[in-house]
Amino acid sequence: MKEKIIELKNIQKVINNKLILDKVNISFECNSFTTIIGMSGSGKTTLLNILCGLEYPTHGEVFVKKTNINNLKKVQLTKFRSLNIGYIFQDYNLIDYLNVKENILITLMVNKQKVDKIKYLNILKFLDLEKIEFVVANELSGGEKQRVAIARTLVGENKIIIADEPTGSLDFITAKKVIKLLKEAVNEFDKTLIVVTHDPNVAKEGEKTFVVKNNEVKMLKNKFEISEIEYYLSNDGKNE
Ligand SMILES: Nc1ncnc2c1ncn2[C@@H]1O[C@H](COP(=O)(O)OP(=O)(O)OP(=O)(O)O)[C@@H](O)[C@H]1O
Ligand SMILES: [Mg+2]
Repeated sequence: MKEKIIELKNIQKVINNKLILDKVNISFECNSFTTIIGMSGSGKTTLLNILCGLEYPTHGEVFVKKTNINNLKKVQLTKFRSLNIGYIFQDYNLIDYLNVKENILITLMVNKQKVDKIKYLNILKFLDLEKIEFVVANELSGGEKQRVAIARTLVGENKIIIADEPTGSLDFITAKKVIKLLKEAVNEFDKTLIVVTHDPNVAKEGEKTFVVKNNEVKMLKNKFEISEIEYYLSNDGKNE
């Protein structure tokens, strides 16, 4: 069995007196690809935010690379996160006035880390960004921005990549390409990938799939059963 890189132990999350997540005991293995599905409002983004330390659980513990991240001071946690976790936000989170190269390297610059030029050029090629390396972000298409956001998570030493609906605003063909690239990145750049999605075609690509439902997070037993995934994403599978 592969080593666990993230472990959530007995997580509960209450927001404004409302129970969002409860009894969450899940883990993610090194170099694996996990997908997370669930109805809108079920708590998927909350779960991602908790596992990377952007939000604190009400109860329970989060271990990332054996470190209890909730015991870290805020400054240490921010540093720990930027060194270990790349987050692909749904709205890409690029800096509009910086060009592609600057956006990709920004985290390394902020952390005063050395840029591995060969790796950077490999990633540019891998994601087909070579021709637009010096174009500023606000002149890019949605698909191009998406690839820059992915490149930014690949270039660093961070072993974990989490993505919240990375294909949400993409057309079918581009979405397929993005998932293929992310999957290849798991192998090529030795990463652990966690993807939240509404798309059953994306969900079934994961080696494991978790469902967030009724405040709990369960592993889908038969992830190849697309009808089961569709059930969880349909009204029949909504929170009771
Ligand atoms: N800051 C907040 N204040 C109040 N309620 C919140 C806050 N953040 C999340 N919630 C509530 O927690 C629940 C889960 O939200 P979350 O964003 O995790 O859902 P989601 O599964 O990611 O939904 P979607 O698929 O629409 O992105 C929702 O009911 C939401 O209203
Ligand atoms: Mg969400």
